[in-house]
Parts: sequence; C-alpha cells; structure tokens
Amino acid sequence: MSHLLAGAAIALASAGPVLSRPAPPAAAAPVSEKDAEARADRLLAKMTLEEKVGQLSQRFDIASLFPTGAVAPPGMPPMTPLDDNVRKAELGAVLFVHDPAVANKYQKLAVEQTRLKIPLLLGYDVIWGMRTMFPVPIATASSFDPAMVEQARGVAASEARALGIHWTFAPMIDIARDPRWGRIVEGAGEDPYLGAAMAAAQVRGFQGAGIGTPGHIIAGPKHFVGYGASMGGRDYDSAYLSDSELHNVYLPPFAAAIDAGAGNIMSAYMDLNDVPASANRTLLTDILRGELGFKGWVVTDASAVHNLVKQGFAEDKTDASIRALMAGVDMEMSMSPNAFSTLVGAVRASKVPMKRIDEAVRRILTVKYRLGLFENPYVDAAAAQRVLDDPAHAAAAQVAAERSLVLLRNEGNALPLVAGAQKRVAVIGAMADSPGDTTVSLAFPQDAAKAVTIFKGISERLNGVATVETTPGVQLSRLVPSPLAGLRGPAKLWTPAQTADELKKAVDLARRSDVVILTLGEKIEMSSEQASRSDLTLPGDQRKLLDAVLATGKPVVVVLMNGRPLDLTGVYDKVPAILEAWYPGSRGGAAVARALFGDVNPGGKTPVTWPRSVGQVPTYYARNLTHNPDTADKRYWDAPSTPLIPFGFGLSYTSFTIAPPTLDKAELAPAGRIVVSTTVTNTGKRAGDEVVQLYIHQRAGRQSRPIRLLQGFERVTLAPGESRQVRFTLDEANVRYWNSVERGWVIDPGAFDLWVGNSSTAQAHATFTVGGKPRAAR
Ligand code: BGC
Repeated sequence: MSHLLAGAAIALASAGPVLSRPAPPAAAAPVSEKDAEARADRLLAKMTLEEKVGQLSQRFDIASLFPTGAVAPPGMPPMTPLDDNVRKAELGAVLFVHDPAVANKYQKLAVEQTRLKIPLLLGYDVIWGMRTMFPVPIATASSFDPAMVEQARGVAASEARALGIHWTFAPMIDIARDPRWGRIVEGAGEDPYLGAAMAAAQVRGFQGAGIGTPGHIIAGPKHFVGYGASMGGRDYDSAYLSDSELHNVYLPPFAAAIDAGAGNIMSAYMDLNDVPASANRTLLTDILRGELGFKGWVVTDASAVHNLVKQGFAEDKTDASIRALMAGVDMEMSMSPNAFSTLVGAVRASKVPMKRIDEAVRRILTVKYRLGLFENPYVDAAAAQRVLDDPAHAAAAQVAAERSLVLLRNEGNALPLVAGAQKRVAVIGAMADSPGDTTVSLAFPQDAAKAVTIFKGISERLNGVATVETTPGVQLSRLVPSPLAGLRGPAKLWTPAQTADELKKAVDLARRSDVVILTLGEKIEMSSEQASRSDLTLPGDQRKLLDAVLATGKPVVVVLMNGRPLDLTGVYDKVPAILEAWYPGSRGGAAVARALFGDVNPGGKTPVTWPRSVGQVPTYYARNLTHNPDTADKRYWDAPSTPLIPFGFGLSYTSFTIAPPTLDKAELAPAGRIVVSTTVTNTGKRAGDEVVQLYIHQRAGRQSRPIRLLQGFERVTLAPGESRQVRFTLDEANVRYWNSVERGWVIDPGAFDLWVGNSSTAQAHATFTVGGKPRAAR
C-alpha cells in the first residue's frame, strides 16, 4: 500500500481511545469446515446479487492509517470512514483497522444495520510483528530455526487478534534472488527449501491449530507468484520465469504454506510472462487450485484490479473485474471504491456466470463462519492492552533477535568483547540510536517507545562498568523520497556545514573511546516496497565515516543494519569484526549487546548470497553447472565471479567439526528412504549453535539440475566438547523436480552427490543413487 502514501507528512497513528464494549468470550471451539460450508450455503441462498458482490469487496480504511484529526495528504483518497459502505452491505472486508473501538464500530454497523447481518473480515499487514516487533523476515530466516519463527508469528497473531484483526497479508514468501529488489527484506531469501520451511512455520504461527483457533489470525501468503523476479530488481516490473523456475524455485514456499493450511492467498501485481498475476488464470486457477490444491479464498494485492487498466491489459474496470474474477480472484482489495461493484452489471449482462460469484462468496462466508464471527464479531477492547503488555512478547522478540544474528567476520577473535575491559565505548552510526530503524514497522503503528536501539542495548549492558556515548556521524537519505517517509515525519536534511560538523563529532568520540561499535547499512525506508536500488554499496557518507573512524586507530566492530545483502567493498577487507543484525526488532539492541559481549553466541546463517558488487547480480548458489565448470569463478575478466559471502554462511565464537556423512543405504529405491547421519562436535571453548546443512546434486537426467540444492538443515546447540548426531531422511520428495518437457514432476534415476556442512560450500561428501525407472512423481 505504500505507493498510496506519497507526500503524507504526518506522524505515526496512535491506537486512540479504546471504547470498551461488552463482549461474550470468543467462540470456544472453531466451527468445522463442513459445518461452515453448510451454513454459508444456506446464507448464500438468501442473498441478492448486490449483497454477494459486496462480500467480494475489501476497502482501505484510510483514516486508520492516520491519527485522529490529520488531514488527508494530496493524492490520497479522502479519509472518510467507511460507515456508509458497511451499512449498505457494500463491503465484505476492511483493511488497516487496528483499534478495537473502530473494529467494533464497523462490526456493529455490519451486524445491526445490514439486512443479513454478515460480519466483516478485518485484515492488516501483520508482517514482522504487530506492536511487539520481531526482526524482519530476512533476519528470522537467518536463524534457520522454524520453531522460533512459528512462535514469533504466534505472538504477532495474538496481539493482532486482541485488536480485532482476523487476517494478515503475510507471510511474504516470494523467493528473492536479486538484492536490488527492496522487498527481499520481507521474505526468507533465495532458497526454495528454506523458503518452504519458513513459509509453513509462519502459517502455523499465525493460524495456530487451524482457522478459528482463538488468539490467532488467518495467514495470507503473498504475492502469488513470481514478484521477486521483477526485472532488474525494479519493484513492480514484469517478471519472466520459465515453467521450470516457476515450479522448482518460486512455487515451493506456496505449496508448503498451502499444505500448512493457509486460509488465504494474495495475488501479485506484476505481469508474469506478460499476463498480470492478478488476472492470470494459469496461476490463480490451474496452478493454485489444480496443482497446489488451495481451498481458501484469493484476494488481490491493493488496487490490483483497477491497475489492470493501467497495466495495458483491461479496457476498463468492468473488463478488469470480469477478467480478475474469472481468472480466480475471489476478493478485490482496493484503496478507492471497488471496481468489483461493476460485477453486478456484468452478471446481469450475462458476462459472468452467477455460479462463479457464488463460489467466491461461499469461500468468504465459510471463513467468517470458521472464525466464529457470526457468534461474536466483536473484540474485547478492555482485554486488548493485557495481551499487548504480556512480558513474554518482549522476551520472545529478544530470543528471535539473538537467534537471527549472523557473524559475518571475526578475524583474530576480535569478538566477543569483554564487558568492562573498555571504559569508554562509542556507538556511532545513523542507525545506532534510531528506534524507527530498530523496530521497523514501516507505515504501521508500533511500540516505538519500547524499542531498544543498539546504543540503548549497549548502555544497559555496560551500565556501571563503562561510559557509553553515541552520535550518528552521518545522515542517510534517499534520492527518491520514500512514499512511507511521510508516515515517519519529514527528515530535515543537514546542511554541508552540519555534515562536516557531525562527522568531526563522530571522529572526536572515536578518539576519546577505547572501542567503537559502528552501525553501518541502510535506513529502513531504503528497503521494502518501492525501495529498490541500482547500487548495493553503503549509502551516503558511511564509507567516509568508516575510514575516518578507522584512521583513529581504535578497535572497530561493525554492526550491520540492512534489509538486503550489501556490497561491502572497503568494509569487509578492513574491519575484523562484522555482525549482521538486519533490522532486529523491539529488543534488537539488547540482543546485539548480548552478542557483542559474549552472553550469547551468534549462530545464524545468511539466507542469501552476498555479491561482491551489483554487477554480479543475480548470483545465488543453486545455479547450473554449464559446459565449463572449471572456470566458474572466472566468468568476468574484471572481477572474480564467486560471491563475497556464500548462502548458508555464518561464524560462531566457538568452532565445530561436521563429520563425513554416512548413509544407511546406497540406493534410494522407489518409495524408499535413505537416512543420512553425521556428527557435529563443538571443538571450541564456548557453547554455541551450528546449523548443519545437507545439499544434493543430480549428476544427469532429463534436465540440468542445480549444482547444489539444500535438502535439509538442523540448528543444534552444543556445549564445549559436546557432540551430537544429526540425521536427515531423504525420500522421493527430495529428488523430484518439475520437468519442463514433461510438464510435470519427475524422478530421474542415477547418481547423486551429497554434502553436509555449515554453508553451501560444504565439503564432506558422499554419493547415492536413485533406483528404478525414469518416472513421474507427485
Ligand atoms: C503490498 C502488499 C500489502 C498491501 C496492503 C501492497 O502495496 O504490495 O504486500 O499487503 O499493499 O498494505
């Protein structure tokens, strides 16, 4: 939605006064799917065409984005509340309501003033937290810890549900192999196997035991599908994907999310192979329902139906609505009055069969019954704050931040520092003490006041043993302003004199300190929607700041805060200790401080390959071999073609060995299994975590297959000297792939390589064969 907010110069919305309304406790047991469908059918039989089309429409509640009394910025639709539209049964769902009083107001209008008393679905972008902010998804993916991620999404769900929200437009599970694309921050990175694990974990976390679980919300994985492949990393640009890439790389996270029970799917904006994803029948019906077996309802991305006209695809909004609906869209999300209202005329003109309308309405009503909204549409406003204040939430956010940290470099064991060994500690950088860059909810309300910045975290950790001071040193700003910047207040740019002065202040601080913790990276508005880059170097004067601080001769530790892999030229080669914190959430500063001073041992691994420079993009580990594999690292004559940091890499304060793998069988027979075992040992002096990773490679077959593919991982915690056996089970699901000639899933018998290790460059090797005949697979 961010593109809608251009120029909005306003402060963050506050939750406003909470009007309490007596409400019975939430429905005890979820309504079964069968029961819900039967009730939906009975209700459907009573509905007029207009009422049905209303259920297919979701509208922005623009006023919910702004504090009370704010004036709609130019270019925005009016902030008029949707009372009239709700009263007239024109809407089935509303988005952005996050105040229980507003939620209850709309529900009261829906159930007391409409003929059929159908409650609304209230949706929201609960992406990496609601009020308690967790690290961004690229960070939580770095944890290689789906159980932690599931728990994090469960906390976010409980906070959202307490505010009256039923459904999130998350998880974002687009595979992203181009760090120029700003939305790489919202997903789990480049790998389909890791992406699928994180997708399923997030769906389980949001939805609990299933749709209707008290204290949980419906997950709406997005954006179906291929958005991450936008050309040049330019947000919204067309994507072109072969059938093989689509099935083998981009669809697996969606398949996993659907298998985990996701209730909703959001369609994408961009053209995929020249057909807009939001009106693409192959995607939304043949693949989504036919191949992946999705049973829930499909919503479009914001205003995507209107956009079909702008995209040069549909003639007008009627044509757009018909083509989106007939392609498989069930609900239109729109900022302005819904294009789908034209479906009333389209049905009357016999351009759309009533059967298709009924099918979409049935899906939406079914979910409302399953959520128990017909029994109780209201939220207990008085109870909301108790949920938001639950101290367990902050604790979970801290664990998540600690487990998401990736130690990228630690020459000469520069880290951890010893608390108190340095009496004066400088914490320098544009993000060092910026709550907005720590908690990052983009446009949405959050408990920024509770955010622990890196400076605050270190100050608290060193309380009484060292003096900690901070200064930004540089100011970072976008050349093209962020559409979201308005929501964060206008940035006042420094004058050249101030710029020089601030740099000097930072250098002076470094000089009088014993150690410098330097945060480098990007401001949060440099990532996410409409935040693509053509360059991956550190923005602004950060290299200058780094050089000036290094020139003081003081020890420097870099803490990276960023939403994408960066070009670390001039950083990686100069700084011995680099800790990747991403945007670490509400408790991020506390987590970073604990890692810097050795209370926790970083154990995350990067879920994306780091290019040396933007010219290597796209670069990812699972490429094909080519006819000349021996020169794979010399594809450019002006630079190495190997990446700076491989996928799956991350250091620790301790050391590990991972033993050569042993396989219980040499052949994977049809419908059989192979158990792969290895032993991981902590050979160092500290407790720590290692992520044992398993990769395979098919040597020959009906299609070239990637040089390596992740097919298993496990994060283990080991005391010094401790060993653990890690076992992976391989079956046909691990060796099947989508073959673009057969247009189906196949298994090719023959030889496979297998490696175990702690990154995509794992060396411990074994082989196995896949037995049987070339065959189709499911
Ligand atoms: C984004 C979606 C988001 C929606 C509603 C769109 O612009 O692409 O990811 O869920 O806005 O905020």
